[in-house]
Amino acid sequence: MNSYRSIIIFTILIVMSISLAGQYHVIPQPQKIDPVEGTYAFGKKIRIYHNSNDLIFASNYLAEKIYNQLNTQVVISNSAEKYADIQLLIHSKKNQLLGNEGYELNISNKKITITANTPAGVFYGIQTLLQLLPSSQTPTTNTMGKTKIQIPCVRITDYPRFSWRGLMLDVSRHFFGKEEVKRYIDQMVQYKFNTLHLHLTDDNGWRIEIKSLPRLTEVGAWRVERYGQFGDREKPKPGEKATYGGYYSHDDIKELIKYAAERHVNIVPEIDVPGHSMAAIAAYPNLSCTADTTIKVDPGTRFAEWHDDGTFTMLVDNTLNPANEEVYVFLEKVFTEIASLFPSEYIHVGGDECYKGYWAKNEACLALMKQKNYSRVEQLQGYFVHRVQEIVEKLGKKIIGWDEITEDSLTTQASVMCWRNPEIGYESARKGYKVVMAPTSFSYLDYYQGDPLIEPPVYAGLRLSRVYSFDPCPYPELEPQILGGQGNLWTENIPYLQYAFYMAYPRAFAIAENYWTHAKQKNWDSFIQRVEKHFDRLEATGINYSKAIYDPIISTYNESNQLMLKMKSEAPDVIIHYTLDGTVPSIYSPIYTEPVAIPSGNITLRVRTFRNKRPIGNMLIIPLEKLKQWPYFTP
Ligand code: ACM
Repeated sequence: MNSYRSIIIFTILIVMSISLAGQYHVIPQPQKIDPVEGTYAFGKKIRIYHNSNDLIFASNYLAEKIYNQLNTQVVISNSAEKYADIQLLIHSKKNQLLGNEGYELNISNKKITITANTPAGVFYGIQTLLQLLPSSQTPTTNTMGKTKIQIPCVRITDYPRFSWRGLMLDVSRHFFGKEEVKRYIDQMVQYKFNTLHLHLTDDNGWRIEIKSLPRLTEVGAWRVERYGQFGDREKPKPGEKATYGGYYSHDDIKELIKYAAERHVNIVPEIDVPGHSMAAIAAYPNLSCTADTTIKVDPGTRFAEWHDDGTFTMLVDNTLNPANEEVYVFLEKVFTEIASLFPSEYIHVGGDECYKGYWAKNEACLALMKQKNYSRVEQLQGYFVHRVQEIVEKLGKKIIGWDEITEDSLTTQASVMCWRNPEIGYESARKGYKVVMAPTSFSYLDYYQGDPLIEPPVYAGLRLSRVYSFDPCPYPELEPQILGGQGNLWTENIPYLQYAFYMAYPRAFAIAENYWTHAKQKNWDSFIQRVEKHFDRLEATGINYSKAIYDPIISTYNESNQLMLKMKSEAPDVIIHYTLDGTVPSIYSPIYTEPVAIPSGNITLRVRTFRNKRPIGNMLIIPLEKLKQWPYFTP
């Protein structure tokens, strides 16, 4: 075959397979979808068969979901395989390709089969099947006694690219109760996430009972009630009661771990030390250099000053003293209880944004530096992390920490969570560390996702398309060192679960696909179509999400002293209508097609996207002054 013809045929095949695969609307995109002719029609009563007692939970889970989604009767059996509509099967002989989490889903016109090496694989096959079914259905049958629910036949072979596919939930800045955490898990497992990182401690609350250190929760779990922008809030008043907060008891944690494990989610606990420790210090002031007994759990005051060069000064001492042996006795108690509660192989020990200013003025720290022959105070952080590593490893666990922990020689037994520049992660991988990717510029779910004029105010933005553009490991030789990655939902400004969902979705869809699907299989045009289908699913199940993809994305630039305006949107098939004359944009307003010269004068841009002649996005109203000031670019 000549090469032009083969390229054309190859291209046609790829386009056909993407468009056929596009019918299936699965997130994350499976590795291989082979459409098969025909449809499977569901009867009035659906029988589920499973071939292993390890699949009892999966069968019940599937039955409940089908009952909710299709409004049909469901029965489960571990006999009568022949009559089953849906068969859940564990391979007796391992299928190497599928690994520990892969599955095959086979929908023929006779029956549906999910096969895997493990219960986790079957569970992920179930998630794919559920995404192929309608998200809700009124009970209707035709004259043949069949429901009208039909799904196209298909063979799907699927397995993840990475084994750590996570979301982080910050339960310190705002406490989310155990039932809320369960709802967060329910949502994430639908997209094949397998790791929930709980940020359990910070300046604003200590959220886990440590029986041997009761003040951590008696004092550290509570702060004064404040609202408004985090970082600008009023300090506790003298004598004011700390009533806002909460914590998980050991029993709560055990319940959460069981709930997560049934759904194949590992909970990674984070105890963030030596910085970010104000709640612990409020409970036990002797742990800090200043030993200040007036320190309270912080309600979101401005206690740090950020400088232009990226450094910062903590105006309140929120750091454990690395030269105080009592600190290590404290940490041994904490990590002993954490290690005995959590089955996780990893314990996250924090290590980020540790201010060294109080260490530099502390006699014991200076003596320790002298004893160790350290010339820089920063080296005390390396010393501290080593001591923590020793404690945690003696308990049979591995440590993972924010990428600052690599700054002073650490054994490669430690793993690194890259949160700053992704290159820090790849450099750590080159040095032999295992790495979890969570760089701010692609993974921070607390950043706003649309236009800053209408989104809740935060200091940075991150749109869905940018999250999706991330390849977690562009260096093939490093891939064995990259465990995977996650999205981080910090909750300084997010006090309730539906708001947390709004921040997480749809960006968590992109994160799920980044870590499950191989980069070569990813395709934005297909993804965004699937995202819109999943908006319907979120609505059907009452989960809040951001519609920022429909909003216009505005940028301005100067060309020969003329201010120019550019507009686009992430959603496909929308028309951007705008006005500069003060009227509300309608289908009769100008359509944006190319950069517009903005006239001088007291004008205001009003702009909105439309689909099928109806407004679909939010209207943005931007006065000229703002357009001029702003490069008006959100990444
Ligand atoms: C971080 O965002 N400070 C890890």
